[in-house]
Formats: sequence, C-alpha cells, structure tokens
Amino acid sequence: MAIQSPKGTKDMLPQDSSAWQWIEQTMRQEAALAGYLEIRTPVFEHTELFERGVGDTTDIVQKEMYTFLDKGGRSITLKPEGTAGTVRAFVQGKLYAGPLPVKLYYLNSPIFRYENPQSGRLREHHQFGMECFGSREPTADAELITTILHILGRLRLRDLGVNINSIGCPACRPGYHQALKAFLRARLDQLCPVCKERFEKNPLRVLDCKEARCVSATQEAPEMPDYLCQECEEHFATLKALLTAQSTPYQVNPRIVRGLDYYTKTVFEITMRTSRGDLALCGGGRYDGLVEEIGGPVTPGVGFGIGTERILMELASQGIGTPSPSTTDVFVAHLGDEALLPAFLLTQQLRRQGLKSDSDHNRRSLKAQLRFADKLGVILLVIVGGEELARGKVKIKDMCTGAETEVEGGQAVGYIQQKLSEKREEEKHG
Ligand code: HAM
Repeated sequence: MAIQSPKGTKDMLPQDSSAWQWIEQTMRQEAALAGYLEIRTPVFEHTELFERGVGDTTDIVQKEMYTFLDKGGRSITLKPEGTAGTVRAFVQGKLYAGPLPVKLYYLNSPIFRYENPQSGRLREHHQFGMECFGSREPTADAELITTILHILGRLRLRDLGVNINSIGCPACRPGYHQALKAFLRARLDQLCPVCKERFEKNPLRVLDCKEARCVSATQEAPEMPDYLCQECEEHFATLKALLTAQSTPYQVNPRIVRGLDYYTKTVFEITMRTSRGDLALCGGGRYDGLVEEIGGPVTPGVGFGIGTERILMELASQGIGTPSPSTTDVFVAHLGDEALLPAFLLTQQLRRQGLKSDSDHNRRSLKAQLRFADKLGVILLVIVGGEELARGKVKIKDMCTGAETEVEGGQAVGYIQQKLSEKREEEKHG
C-alpha cells in the first residue's frame, strides 16, 4: 500500500494553495497597514520554553506536545503555539531596547499538537499571529481585534462572534480563584474526571469544559468580571468602549478563559457559528507577565493566533469562492525534433518578459501537445517548426477564436505580449 500522510496532517494541493496565498496576502497587507513587521522563529525550541511560557498545568504542555531528545540529549519540542517562541526571540534579539511598542506578526507558522484528530482539529496546523510588545493600553488590544476582523471581512467570512472577557491579573485573580474553588468544591461530584483534576491545578479551565454535566454544574459559577481590581476593571471598560466606538459587535463572555496560562486581563475568541456548533477561529489575549517569565525585562504584551486550515474550512463551508490556481497563458509547441531547441528558447524569452509560458517536456507529438495546451487552458498557442521554421517564422493561434497568424521569429515575443494585453483589456471590459 502507498505510504499515507501521518494522522492529523493535511497536504495543501495546488487547488488549495491559491486560496492559501490569497489569505496570506490579505493578512500581510492588513498587518503592514497596522505597522506590524514579520518575524520567523524556529519550528522547534527547548521544551522548557513552553513549560515555563505556556504553563505546565495546561492540556497543551501536559498532553499534546511533540517532545523528543535530540542526538545531544537535549529536550526539544515542536512549537505547540506561536507566542512563546516570539517572546523568546523578542528577548534574545533585545527588541525591547528599541522604541516600543514592537509589533510583530508570523504567517503560517507550523504548529504541532498531539490532539485527537476531528473536524477542525489537526496535529499539524498553521497559524497567523500578531503580537504587540510594550503597551499596557487597551488601544493595543482593540487594534488587534479590529485588524483580525478586517482580515476576516476581506475574506468575506460571515456569522462571526467576537467574545471578550477579562481574567484579571495576579492582584485580583487569586480572590476569584478562591470564590470559584469554593463554588466548585460543593459540586465536585458533578464534574467530569478531567475537571476534577483541573479543580486543584487550574480551576478556571473548568468553565471552559464542553461536557454537558460541567456546563450545567457551573451555570451559577461566580464570574471573573465581578472580581476585577480597579486597574483591570478600567482596562476592560476602556476596551469595551473602544470596540463600541467603532461599532464592533462583541459579547462579554465570562466563560472565555483560554487554554494557555500566560494570559492576564483581556482574553478573546472569534467564533464562527457552524452547523456543528461554535468553532473557535481565532484566540488571543494579553500576557503582561510573559516576557519577564521568559527572562526579559518587564514588558506587557498582547496578541492573537488564527489557524489557516480553519479559515479554509469555513470558506469552503460558506461557499465563498477563492482565486483559482494561476494558469499558463502561452504554450510553445514544437513540430519535429529540430524545433525542440527554438521552442525551448522562445519559452525562456517569454518568461523573461513576465509572460506565463510553457513548452513540452515529454517529446509529445504535435497533436498531443495541442491537447495538453488545451487542458492547461492557455490563451495563445505558438507552433514552432515545419516550413514556417524554415522561413524563420512561427505560427500563433488564438485559442479563443481559433484565428492563426504567422509572425517573424524575431518579433514573436513582442507580438505575443501585445496580443495578451489586448486580450486582458477585452476581458476587463466584458
Ligand atoms: P489557540 O487558541 O490555542 O491560541 O490557537 C489559535 C487558533 O489556532 C485557534 O483559534 C484555531 O484557529 C487554531 N488551532 C488551534 N489548534 C488547532 C488544531 N489542533 N487544528 C487546527 N487549528 C487549530 C494560541 O495558540 C495562542 N498562541 C494565541 C495567541 C497569540 N495569544 C496571544 N498571542
């Protein structure tokens, strides 16, 4: 049997890549408009980075990391998310020494999580993320939410929900933890086995559990927004005011707690209503203690990540058309072996003029080359060979009208260039 791709991975075949490139281009443009610069960090890091950064009580670190010892006996982990590596690079590259905020984005960073593959959940996926370092102000949070909504709007995705919450800071969260634990303690026997474990180490995550019995047991649970200290309360109020001021519809959802330990204050998720329930498309929040945790100076941060495969999945399920793969415009066929070289050289000249062109690589008969060119959907077909070649000419066929013209070999490139631009103009005007 032919070897299959590993479970939970996905090939991007050419028909998907053009949609992928369109998404990338949109993201790059919107990130640049907001002053974000691209960063690329390694696919693997020292395991300790994620244990410290993401948190050793999280599902990601406890159950989902691809961790191995390298030949030097070091514990290495394939990136299970994009923020920790970006923070490490920010600190290691001393980006904090320049003017702040430093605004960074990563595009289609491969992310690895050993999850149970199911709809929308892969073991390797790709994330676009934006991270802003060095601003405590909620304008930075609002800017990120607005930017991703612009991106999703340009991709024409509908039925989006913006869920925001504040999970407080080290000053106010312990008080909330206490209140939540007291509430949960009285209902421990109603919780699922995983949440019974979470109760001790990470009680906030119980609110995030999708198990029906946990949802029902926590219906009346105390909510973090009621326990915020003055600073967090003001931060959250300003964020809401900023979103309202620009008519961004949002919902305060106290159940958004996020599955990574580094968050402080704002957390948010952009969800999509699907027939299978709400799907998280994008997740993010503020992480004011993370840079310090990774060994850098005290520097607040805020960011988000969004999975490209989930965007593609939703574009398809909403029936949103994406650009088709780029096609070859000109095919240079050869008639007889003596025409192989001139056809090859003409193709190269056309490409140097920026024209998408190709020629035969299989020594096909002229008839077979014509069939192939037809399948490629070319606009112009050039035939090199026969008595035209002997007279220093080539034949050019308009594949749409069928009209054929003979052109001097030396003038073929100019003629083709002219003809293609006329065709494009015609197409534009109907
Ligand atoms: P996250 O919510 O774990 O956050 O992931 C962000 C997005 O990545 C999700 O909303 C989803 O689109 C996609 N995603 C996550 N897991 C999978 C999967 N198994 N298969 C396919 N897509 C997936 C983070 O990773 C944070 N680092 C985001 C962040 C950046 N927070 C602040 N800055």
